[in-house]
Amino acid sequence: MGILCLGIETSCDETALALVRDTGVVHEKIASQEGLHAFFGGVVPELASREHMRVIGPLHDALLSEAGVKTEEIEGIAVARGPGLLGSLLVGLGLAKGLAFSLDRPLIGVNHLLAHLLAPGLERCLTFPALGLVVSGGHTQIGLLQSEFEISWLGRTLDDAAGEAYDKTARMLNLPYPGGRIIDALSRFARPDPDLLPRPYLDNQNLDFSFSGLKTALAKVVRAKPHLVLSAMQAKPDVPALAAAKPGLATLCASLNWSIASTLAIKVKRAAGYHPQARSLIVAGGVAANSWLRQELAATAEECGLELIIPGLGLCTDNASMIAFAGSLYLEAGYAHGMDLDAVPRGRPIPDDWSRIP
Ligand code: KG4
Ligand code: ZN
Repeated sequence: MGILCLGIETSCDETALALVRDTGVVHEKIASQEGLHAFFGGVVPELASREHMRVIGPLHDALLSEAGVKTEEIEGIAVARGPGLLGSLLVGLGLAKGLAFSLDRPLIGVNHLLAHLLAPGLERCLTFPALGLVVSGGHTQIGLLQSEFEISWLGRTLDDAAGEAYDKTARMLNLPYPGGRIIDALSRFARPDPDLLPRPYLDNQNLDFSFSGLKTALAKVVRAKPHLVLSAMQAKPDVPALAAAKPGLATLCASLNWSIASTLAIKVKRAAGYHPQARSLIVAGGVAANSWLRQELAATAEECGLELIIPGLGLCTDNASMIAFAGSLYLEAGYAHGMDLDAVPRGRPIPDDWSRIP
């Protein structure tokens, strides 16, 4: 039997804690800050770290008491060490180090992006080599995974992430954060218009992405159609009523889904051509919850002869089970970090700076 591993996730706007043993989630708790950031159109870093600090202690106590687990029973501690918001990551690292020190248990810092890609391992067996596509609010990256422990990145966004394109579009339209979810919901009421928005940064042979041009194109559409913008931001708009009142808005949302999904699919197809040894396609991160993207990538995977591996919706967005799961794989393979474990903000590479447990 594997170790009982505590996972801690505070890289962005979710404070999440989970207990995982092998591929089983013993218990998990998540405190979302969505309501706090909804009106700002994105995560406000200073508010996010303060909120993590406020809720993480009580969340830890609730996790253990609801699971009926005593602190001393925890056998390993895994924490998201980056990439993410520095102030937020430090809150998770503080708790992780405090627990590791006081309980004398091994500590492992987990790469948040790799944890996203390994997350479906909680639901099924992963097949390697795998192409791994992470699409989230902060990242759009594609890599080749030889195993759970070896990933080489093949391409990344040069500017905005796919999730950012959703979130910034929502802000332009006065729709609440996180934009992806509400845009996806609105898009179900319309068909995409492929002439409305471009599929950005395809006129090359590489595997990088760029979504800032899409944002500019969207701004132009919104300027030309000001009636699509909601008169005031509402935290929870009535989606069917909104789609009925503004059919052009639903069409714009469906077209954004189409643009992002087909851009990602074209690059995945290209990656599969460059790396024919890949046997599966793992898709993860918050945008992997997108209905259009899930359909589009299912078709792409079939066309390329790849097994498609996308986790259920709850495992797509940030959660601590994926951190505990990835961390337990590393701890059980004998990797651990010392008390000098550092947080890594977005934009900096994550070092392989663990040591072997003697
Ligand atoms: O992975 P995640 O929870 O946090 C980060 O690590 O960034 O991803 C959050 C992102 C946000 O940009 C949000 O708008 C997007 O995922 N998102 C979606 C959907 N649900 C969440 N984007 C498109 N369609 C969705 N259904
Ligand atoms: Zn994430």
